[in-house]
Amino acid sequence: MDFKENIRIIEDFPVEGISFKDITTLIGNGPAFRTLIDNMAEKLKGQNIDYIAGPEARGFIFGVPLAYALGIGFIPIRKRGKLPAETVAITYDLEYGTDTLEIHKDSFEKGARIALVDDLLATGGTISACARLIELAGGKIASVDFIIELTGLKGRDKLDGYSVESVVQYEF
Ligand code: PRP
Ligand code: MG
Repeated sequence: MDFKENIRIIEDFPVEGISFKDITTLIGNGPAFRTLIDNMAEKLKGQNIDYIAGPEARGFIFGVPLAYALGIGFIPIRKRGKLPAETVAITYDLEYGTDTLEIHKDSFEKGARIALVDDLLATGGTISACARLIELAGGKIASVDFIIELTGLKGRDKLDGYSVESVVQYEF
């Protein structure tokens, strides 16, 4: 199945020059969404994954059904101040300023094998912060999976040493 057929391109959103990859048309198509998740689950099966983790908001959209399909837990990686129990946090640089992501300290056992999932690999800033956060909390990154990769932004370079995969690729 060519999932690009289900991803809508919106030019000049959110600012001029950006060719936005809209996944709402993909998740709005039941058979395509199910096939996508089933394919990803098939790939991760047998890799001894203990948990799926993904950053809010769009990482939840794909990470949760994937965890469900595999029958394992989902760990939400959230923006600062959203999680009620004790957290581990990481602050990372954005183009302008910084952002902080958190997970619950007790969300997995030390040494747990965790597959990271997000919708998009662009600069790699978000996901590399997620990977460092999981490791800081004592987890092992078993794989890093995206629906879309923008190869021209070279986000992969920030994920050296990890097993990284994406379902569809665009240059920008
Ligand atoms: C988008 C996207 C990825 C990230 C990719 O999230 O969902 O998480 O940017 O960009 P990067 O590789 O340059 O870090 P965004 O922060 O826009 O928020 P959302 O998921 O809440 O929509
Ligand atoms: Mg996101």
